Amino acid sequence: MILIHLLLYKNNLSGNIPDTLGQLQTLQVIRFDRNLLSGPVPSNLSNLSSVGELYLSNNNLNGSIPDLTGMNSLNYVDMSNNTFNGSKIPSWASTLESLTTF
Ligand SMILES: *[C@@H]1O[C@H](CO)[C@@H](O)[C@H](O)[C@H]1NC(C)=O
Ligand SMILES: *[C@@H]1O[C@H](CO)[C@@H](O)[C@H](O)[C@H]1NC(C)=O
Ligand SMILES: *[C@@H]1O[C@H](CO)[C@@H](O)[C@H](O)[C@H]1NC(C)=O
Ligand SMILES: *[C@@H]1O[C@H](CO)[C@@H](O)[C@H](O)[C@H]1NC(C)=O
Ligand SMILES: *[C@@H]1O[C@H](CO)[C@@H](O)[C@H](O)[C@H]1NC(C)=O
Repeated sequence: MILIHLLLYKNNLSGNIPDTLGQLQTLQVIRFDRNLLSGPVPSNLSNLSSVGELYLSNNNLNGSIPDLTGMNSLNYVDMSNNTFNGSKIPSWASTLESLTTF
């Protein structure tokens, strides 16, 4: 698939975010916010270097705050209102140069 926008917000989706998402290298916008998603965010997402906007807020995602180091185009990321097991600000927050909202 040559998918650019993946907009699945405000549904009733439950379960995990599939790790096959990491294969959609053309993605620019990912919205999974306002669902019932649980489990960790798959690490494969960090390979999506064209994603500018990532919305994961208002779910039940847990585990560590995901490592988004390879998301070099990221400018907007909202992971609020989940249950991440974070105790410190991840290092990518200061190295991703296009990031304007975290
Ligand atoms: C969302 O899913 C839950 C559990 O599967 C179900 O009880 C509820 O009715 C669903 N809500 C909507 C708005 O579809
Ligand atoms: C995603 O990464 C996990 C390990 O982090 C691996 O098991 C899985 O095969 C990967 N999936 C894809 C679609 O690359
Ligand atoms: C990211 O992509 C590279 C090369 O395409 C691959 O070697 C690596 O395993 C991928 N990482 C993840 C976490 O999927
Ligand atoms: C947090 O997300 C849950 C859904 O997981 C939602 O029901 C709740 O209203 C949200 N809380 C806030 C403060 O947005
Ligand atoms: C969350 O962090 C605590 C303290 O670092 C650790 O003991 C626990 O195993 C972590 N839980 C998960 C699900 O990563």
